[in-house]
Amino acid sequence: MKRSRRSKPFARLEWHRRRESEFKPASLQLDTEVYPRDVQPPVDFTGRLIEGDNLAVMTAILTELEGQIDLIYMDPPFLTGKAYSARIGRGEDSRRPSEWQTTSGYQDTWRDGAEYLDMLFPRLDIMRRLLSPSGTIYLHLDWHASAYARVLMDEIFGPNRLINEIVWIYHGPSPIRRAFKRKHDTILVYTKSKDYTFNADAVRVAYDPSTVKTFSSSPKAGFGKVPDLERGKVPEDWWYFPVVARLHKERTGYPTQKPEALMERIILASSNPGDIVADFFCGSGTTAVVADRLDRQWIACDNSPLAIQTIYRRLLLENFERPFTIWRSEEDMQYAIKPQITVSQSGSSIHVALDDILSQESESEPFPADLNMWEVDWDFDGDVFRSHSQAVRMWREEEIDTQMEHTYQQPGDYTLGVRAFDNRGSLGHITHQTTIPA
Ligand SMILES: C[S@@+](CC[C@H](N)C(=O)[O-])C[C@H]1O[C@@H](n2cnc3c(N)ncnc32)[C@H](O)[C@@H]1O
Repeated sequence: MKRSRRSKPFARLEWHRRRESEFKPASLQLDTEVYPRDVQPPVDFTGRLIEGDNLAVMTAILTELEGQIDLIYMDPPFLTGKAYSARIGRGEDSRRPSEWQTTSGYQDTWRDGAEYLDMLFPRLDIMRRLLSPSGTIYLHLDWHASAYARVLMDEIFGPNRLINEIVWIYHGPSPIRRAFKRKHDTILVYTKSKDYTFNADAVRVAYDPSTVKTFSSSPKAGFGKVPDLERGKVPEDWWYFPVVARLHKERTGYPTQKPEALMERIILASSNPGDIVADFFCGSGTTAVVADRLDRQWIACDNSPLAIQTIYRRLLLENFERPFTIWRSEEDMQYAIKPQITVSQSGSSIHVALDDILSQESESEPFPADLNMWEVDWDFDGDVFRSHSQAVRMWREEEIDTQMEHTYQQPGDYTLGVRAFDNRGSLGHITHQTTIPA
């Protein structure tokens, strides 16, 4: 796939090896349809969760979705040079990181800055093509790469399409002693055209108490414009939201998870109900969860199986009402664990007990402590897994239900599909044949 043609920018970033290349689309396959309890097909799916490298994924969906996505939030690796681990333990002391049980999260390590720019540039370029004419993209970075990204974004979108440089400020501990603590991120906001969605009224906040006091006592104070104190104000371009580490309730254990309040403001401001919101570096799935809650359609992609499982679990643990699909590339399908089940039957009712999940890694943690979720397709067609029953462990709980039941409406031969996910993001799948007598 060739890159789009752009008009000549007034500045251009050069790095060694910068080149135009061709990209191969991912061979995406519909893997799972996920239904809330009692919801039967046919339905409209409101979300797509896609496992795979986002460049190949975006190239694959371009034929269907070019010019269709209304909002893209992008929170890529920041060029920090770190490998991030995910917390998978429960009931641990937050102040003792050396005792946390962890697994590999995602890598933000690069041979050099040029390799990072090689990653970033084609992805920004293809995202512009995916955006709808009134669409907006939010690119979330920090001091490591935001200056370089700004020049790339100016080249791809045009400098006059930058509508905001948002500064997200937060608190937290820092080991830095020879400079000021680095406690802000930068979010570059570009639009595809001059006619873009911006819902000022959806994101208004209360005026500061000092402003309210001043204008309550004298409406003439200020520079002539009297604020509507009841309606509130459109926020400034600097935002304070606490980081997720402090928001215990939201925390999934996935590294660098962003706060839901941040995503809520972005989604409310730059999309409308029914719009398509996409996040191709979706991590723990904050964008998908908030978009779903706000009645948007969503696309969430990540190349980490642990991220995909975290989002899947998070969506199910939310007030799960709207069916969604999971897509994978054929080459990414790996079953690293093996569920062990006992099936018992009484008339048209069937009972499945999950007895164990066999994996190379689970010896350190016995079953069911190593189990994060499992699901059953009561009538698996051997192709698409239709998940109608799911058992999910809450984030910091020990308990997970290992029994499931189902009553068939029709006699016949059925194949049960059973899938399980362990706490490292590995997936297992088995089938079981059963006959329901007339
Ligand atoms: C900063 S984290 C995103 C965090 C997310 N916003 C959240 O709230 O949890 C970046 C994510 O990008 C993913 N990622 C990195 N390179 C990728 C690629 N080429 N394709 C798909 N995902 C990628 C990583 O696995 C990681 O989960």
